[in-house]
Amino acid sequence: MRFVVRTRSPEETRLLGEVLAELAGEGALFALGGDLGAGKTVFTQGVARALGVADIVTSPTFTLVNEYSGKCPLYHVDLYRVEGPLDVWDLGLEDYLEGHGVVVVEWADKAGELLDLPRVWKLFFRILEEGERDIEVVPPQDVEGSKLKEALTRIGVEVVEWKGF
Ligand SMILES: Nc1ncnc2c1ncn2[C@@H]1O[C@H](COP(=O)(O)OP(=O)(O)OP(=O)(O)O)[C@@H](O)[C@H]1O
Ligand SMILES: [Mg+2]
Repeated sequence: MRFVVRTRSPEETRLLGEVLAELAGEGALFALGGDLGAGKTVFTQGVARALGVADIVTSPTFTLVNEYSGKCPLYHVDLYRVEGPLDVWDLGLEDYLEGHGVVVVEWADKAGELLDLPRVWKLFFRILEEGERDIEVVPPQDVEGSKLKEALTRIGVEVVEWKGF
């Protein structure tokens, strides 16, 4: 399954992060890619909101990973400054991936094997124009399309493409 949503404000992108995190539950992995400044960190703020994280989520600038506590831990990884390709072992991510926390990785294509994990949600962010973003989502295979559609309808985000059931 693969779909594209169009968000028209940062808050809509945050809402998308929130509903997808609710749907994905503990142990979820979100691998984010796409344009610089397209909304990957904003999406992560929505994931944090779903987990009840009180802190404000910003990009991990001086560290690879920021850890937040919520209903379960949130590990926010940003590989932008990392010279890729690297494996998960080099990056020391295995502890985060093995725990029950939610892992969000910006610039995930730099650690390609992350994208092969069966539970990964792949998201690709594109800037359209001021305030508008297209976000392509490839959920893990076991996600039910009907639940996803219901969640997207609930937040009122526009679905511009839908492939799969
Ligand atoms: N529809 C939208 N969704 C998300 N962000 C938006 C949207 N419209 C405008 N913006 C703005 O775009 C910027 C997105 O910044 P953000 O840091 O989330 O991008 P990023 O993809 O994480 O960038 P980087 O690649 O540098 O990590 C914010 O300033 C936000 O206010
Ligand atoms: Mg970012």
